[in-house]
Order: sequence, then structure tokens, then C-alpha cells
Amino acid sequence: MKEEIEKVLNDLDSLKCESLKEVEEARIKFLGKKGEITKLFEEFRTIAPEMKKEFGKQLNDLKQKTQAKIEELKGTASDSVSDKTALNDLTMPGYHYTLGSRHPVSIVRQEIADIFRKFGYDIAEGPEIEDDYHVFEALNFPPDHPARDMQDTFFVSTGHKDPILLRTHTSCVQVRCMETMPLPIRVICPGRVFRNEAISARAHCIFHQCEGLYIDEHVTFADLRQSILLFVREMFGPNTQIRMRPSYFPFTEPSSEVDVSCNICHGKGCNVCKGTGWLEILGCGMVDPNVLEASGIDSKKYSGFAFGMGLERIAMLKWQVNDLRHYFENDMRFLKEFGTSVEV
Ligand code: PHE
Repeated sequence: MKEEIEKVLNDLDSLKCESLKEVEEARIKFLGKKGEITKLFEEFRTIAPEMKKEFGKQLNDLKQKTQAKIEELKGTASDSVSDKTALNDLTMPGYHYTLGSRHPVSIVRQEIADIFRKFGYDIAEGPEIEDDYHVFEALNFPPDHPARDMQDTFFVSTGHKDPILLRTHTSCVQVRCMETMPLPIRVICPGRVFRNEAISARAHCIFHQCEGLYIDEHVTFADLRQSILLFVREMFGPNTQIRMRPSYFPFTEPSSEVDVSCNICHGKGCNVCKGTGWLEILGCGMVDPNVLEASGIDSKKYSGFAFGMGLERIAMLKWQVNDLRHYFENDMRFLKEFGTSVEV
């Protein structure tokens, strides 16, 4: 047994390992279930009792020495990530961090903001929890007017003169701009809005809008039409056409809905535009004089236009997403489709 212990000690002294794999192989060779040291312990059980004291100590020392050596080798193996080796080799590659990619709604919001910034518009933001006055009353919705049904509302508190609610559109931010900003005003108001709708592929109770407002002397419907045309050509390509259909909003008069020529079939008709060649993208109109007056603007001197669009809708058209719910489920397989995820 003495010789056997010495042999293992010698082997251990000359042991060299290049990689962690080799260290593991050495561990198995000495300390594994069928390893040399394990075998020696089995042999130890059969030796004469008077020799047990001497060899017992030697065997325990051997086992400890081997364990220490294996630990030491683990730290110096070339593929080890210990601080020591990292410091020895400063050229070792670092860890990768995945930054993720931008959400499609955020990409569209940024594109719209960049386009309108070129036209001289500022960006305005306001509270998501609003009062009835800014969401409805100041926008020419009288308290019992049926137009309120167009936007089914989540109320936070009712029962007093000015209920608190979740904004159903970002037009309320435009009211706050008219109340506080010097004229002329040119703003876009992107933000999250809430409507009490059943969730389906085409409707959601939370979505995003970007609305715009321009107020100055002598602003006409022709300015509105041209601004929208320039915007859609920047957004969907230089050959895009627009079509304006008469519509109704309490805060604009006249009001219109705008369609763009389908950028998939170029007017021929496909299943995205349901064979019509046109896609509806926004609502707009000339600001009703009542709305200007409610915010203290002289409607004889000033006029303006407003428009509003849903960001999910624009993103759906841009990337042909057929279900609105994808935008809110945070499924990585969907989110990774947009933009590139960056690794540093
Ligand atoms: N606020 C309207 C909506 O949410 C959109 C709109 C804005 C229409 C401005 C006309 C002018 O449906």
C-alpha cells in the first residue's frame, strides 16, 4: 500500500492540465467512483488493524492533497474564467449583452415625430388620467351629447361636475396647448389612450395615437390637405395618393377621414385594402370655432386644423400585422421581427 500511495503522489506532482476538460478527467482518474484513491480506500478496509492508523492518516492526506491540486488546476486551465487568467490575458473577449430591439409602435412614433419636426412642429405630452373638461367639454362635446358614445370611456371617478377619466384620445393635450402656448401653435401629441372596447384582432382597450394641431392666422383646408399629403408621402413613399371623405367629429368643422392609396397593390385591389385600393389612416378637420373660443383664442382672427391617427394602425399597414393583440403581448418572436437587436 505504501508504494501505491507514493505512486499516486508522484503522478499528482507531475500532473499538468491544459483545459478544464482535462482537469475533470484527472479528477475522475483519482477521485471518481472507480478512481485510484477510491480504490485505495477500499483496500484500506482489508489491511491489518495495527497498520490502519499509519495508512489511514496517509490516505486522508493524499485525498486532501489531490482535491487541492484539482482546484488549483481548475483555476489555471486555459479556458478557465477565473479572475487570475482574465487579468493575465487582457485580450480575452468580454461577455455579450443583448440590447433588444425597438417596439414597432415606438418605431412608428419616432418616424412620425421626425417627419413633423421637419415641418416645424413641436412635441407635446399631457396626463393620461384627465378630467372630463379637457377630453370632452372643451372639445365641443356637451355633457349629454351622443358623440360621447363614439369613445366608450373608462371613468376613474364620477358623480361630480368634472369627472376624472382615462383619456380616450390625445386631443385633450391639444386643449392644454391652446390654453397655455403662445400663438401660432404647431404641435403633435403622441401618447397612450384608453377606450372601453372588447379586445379583438381589430380593437383594444389600450392603444396609441399621434394627433396634431396647427393654429395661426389664415390657416385653410388647403393647408390641411397639403400637410397630410406631404406627411403620407414621407411615411409611405413619394407616389402615395390621398383621398378625403367627409366625416364628423364634434371638435372640427368641416371634418374628414383620409385614406391612402394601398402601398401593396398600388390601387389594383388586394386583401389588405379589401379590394378597394384605399386604406383609412386618419381623421382630421378645421378646428371648430367653439373649440378655439373655449380655450380663449379669438376665432375671428385665428383658424387652424387638427388631425389624429392610431399608431398601431399605421404600424399594421407598414408591416402587414393582422392582429392588434400582438402589440401588447410582448412575445419575443414578434418583437424580434422589428429592427435589429444589437449585441455589444
Ligand atoms: N380625436 C379623434 C379620435 O380620437 C381623431 C381626430 C383628431 C379627428 C383631430 C379629427 C381631428 O378619433
